[in-house]
Amino acid sequence: MKGIILVGGLGTRLYPMTRVTNKHLLPVHRFPMVYYPLHNLVEAGVRDIMLVTGGNQPGAFLELLRDGREFGLAHLYFAYQHAPRGIADALRCAEAFVDRDRCVVMLGDNILAGSIRPYVEQFRAQQAGARVLLREVPDPQRFGVPRFDEQGRIVELIEKPANPPSPYAVIGVYMYDETLWDILPTLRLSERGQYEITDVNNAYLEKGQLYYDILPFGWSDAGTPESLHRAAEMMRNSDFLPNPEFGVWED
Ligand code: DAU
Repeated sequence: MKGIILVGGLGTRLYPMTRVTNKHLLPVHRFPMVYYPLHNLVEAGVRDIMLVTGGNQPGAFLELLRDGREFGLAHLYFAYQHAPRGIADALRCAEAFVDRDRCVVMLGDNILAGSIRPYVEQFRAQQAGARVLLREVPDPQRFGVPRFDEQGRIVELIEKPANPPSPYAVIGVYMYDETLWDILPTLRLSERGQYEITDVNNAYLEKGQLYYDILPFGWSDAGTPESLHRAAEMMRNSDFLPNPEFGVWED
């Protein structure tokens, strides 16, 4: 199982904080934002991890994280996304690294107050397909949102719907089998000029291979001033933090 953390994009919703600084280096409570998804993956037992970066300060992640030793890793892998063409476009940069293994993808601005280990284990046990995580939110129109049928099955995912069909957000943790690499080249640019991760998830749904879990603990993105503040406040009150020894070089 490979892990991918996406830390590209321009973070324009946080301007001017992100005009110079990459969004994923901004502080969330007591760690740089990228520490949280990295902690989530390592804690879930994922050891081969690639960061896909781009936008501002792409080299800063190498300076900050070096070989990943503080997180107990032997190596960290890096790739560069040439232009911010969307989450599904960033994933293509990791194709050779994943090498048709399965993967867990985390958006670098998603902060979770609990472990994803049980879901990664469910995914390992799954025969094929994809797995996404949902969380009830007060503002689903900001996210990818599922529409359910009467049996509670997802029938469609809609990216940032004006009239959300449910109160759930598809959070930025996605688990994919090797057919991801056949789906990515079939995607078309969306109206906002991006290759959308929601289109990838809908492709799995059409094959009848999209599974989901509902997250029982806190989650926030951190891509707007309000959500960045909320994420920091959530982690200030959480026990599920990166190891406090992190940040101390061990030479
Ligand atoms: O936070 C969960 C939401 O993330 C999902 O519910 C949505 O379905 C999904 O589209 C995404 O929505 P956002 O509009 O919030 O995504 P954003 O453009 O903020 O990108 C999220 C992360 O993905 C960002 O922190 C870095 C990475 N990214 C994004 C783009 C557009 C890249 O690495 N490259 C990119 O080109």
